[in-house]
Amino acid sequence: MSVVNARLKDLLGWVDERFPLTASWKAHLSEYYAPKNFNFWYFFGSLALLVLVIQIVTGIFLVMHFKPDASLNAAGVPVAFASVEYIMRDVPWGWLIRYMHSTGASAFFIVVYMHMFRGMLYGSYRKPRELIWIFGMLIFLCLMAEAFFGYLLPWGQMSYWGAQVIVNLFSAIPFVGPDLSLWIRGDYVVGDATLNRFFAFHVIAVPLVLVGLVVAHILALHEVGSNNPDGIEIKKKKDAQGIPLDGIPFHPYYTVKDIMGVVVFLMVFSLIVFFAPEVGGYFLEYNNFFPANPLQTPPHIAPVWYFTPFYSILRAVTYPLFGVDAKFWGVVAMGASAMIFVLLPWLDRSPAKSIRYRGPIYKTFLAAFVICFFTLGYLGVLPPTPARTLVSQICSVIYFAFFLLMPVYSSIDKCKPEPDRVTSSGHGAKK
Ligand code: HEM
Repeated sequence: MSVVNARLKDLLGWVDERFPLTASWKAHLSEYYAPKNFNFWYFFGSLALLVLVIQIVTGIFLVMHFKPDASLNAAGVPVAFASVEYIMRDVPWGWLIRYMHSTGASAFFIVVYMHMFRGMLYGSYRKPRELIWIFGMLIFLCLMAEAFFGYLLPWGQMSYWGAQVIVNLFSAIPFVGPDLSLWIRGDYVVGDATLNRFFAFHVIAVPLVLVGLVVAHILALHEVGSNNPDGIEIKKKKDAQGIPLDGIPFHPYYTVKDIMGVVVFLMVFSLIVFFAPEVGGYFLEYNNFFPANPLQTPPHIAPVWYFTPFYSILRAVTYPLFGVDAKFWGVVAMGASAMIFVLLPWLDRSPAKSIRYRGPIYKTFLAAFVICFFTLGYLGVLPPTPARTLVSQICSVIYFAFFLLMPVYSSIDKCKPEPDRVTSSGHGAKK
């Protein structure tokens, strides 16, 4: 052993006596045994981590030049809007940082939706992983808050009117509603006070909670171990050393495999950032290239694509109930549609976890749910017409039926028997 190596070993020993560095490395990487049959769907957890880092790093650089100020500059343009234009035109590489951040927002939702769908495919929310799922849902809630707060900051027409519409929704709550929305805005209309508080939430409060939740999410995962595409517990079959027979060390096997996911992701991400950052108005809405104008409402106000399935459900509720305005029930339905996933661990009574061994009824319901999610998402971008409202009403009913009828259909569905061991021949299988 060279002198340098010996010194490094001494240093590591010194650190290990004071901080569990080697122990953490082993517990979470080199001796964390993950099922050997992870597939494509398992890329999205590490990709969500990557996007989180991209958003935080690009966000830090944006904050260096962005000004949360709604007052007008000498040219009559709001200072916040002008500071974004300044980042795009004058700050060296500012356009890159800004496009990475705006593309990162949509990428975050794509990755997280895929990650959640994987959980639904393989029953990853089921016992003993309920807490991983609950932390996941809290992350999702934070993510939506983060995107909503962030969207106001460039102070464009869509930022302004989108915030106006969403904050006004709170006024539909009986008795306290109007005061509540006034309290959220800090003014009678969306204004400088709103911009400043949304900025505070977007750059520090929500990210702090988000990062804490992600740590909790992964600690909970590593406590119980990962699920896999077969939905069976690898910890039930261990060798003499207590290592799961179907487990392989996360590092190096999955660290290397995840790099492949990262490379493909970065290729697509770069294509968007460099060649189509607006993605036809889906990632950056055209109306947001105009400065906020409180005196001119845009003809059609639509949220960014990742909110539109829930927004469609809001608009689908057109009947008052118990003497309370339809708008209020719409808000309730919208909130419920985004958060109802949290109940999945208790709604699902199927004997099999993974879609591979579930019966035809679950598969049909899941397919119908996915079709409705996309349809609602598409309709939410468009202005409403009577026909579109009817379609979104039908889709909303199917959406909720998928969850609310699950205790019934998942228990009567005919499942195939689950295998004893995971079904994969790769990665040096132990017999
Ligand atoms: C910032 C957002 C998120 C990050 C960084 C993140 C990170 C991760 C990572 C690294 C894993 C392990 C690798 C993998 O299984 O893919 C994981 C697993 C998991 N995540 Fe997330 N996650 C996030 C959001 C969510 C959300 C929104 C949900 C669901 C509501 C969720 C539910 C799960 C579940 C159930 C597992 C275990 C999957 C299994 O073992 O099959 N996560 N997450």
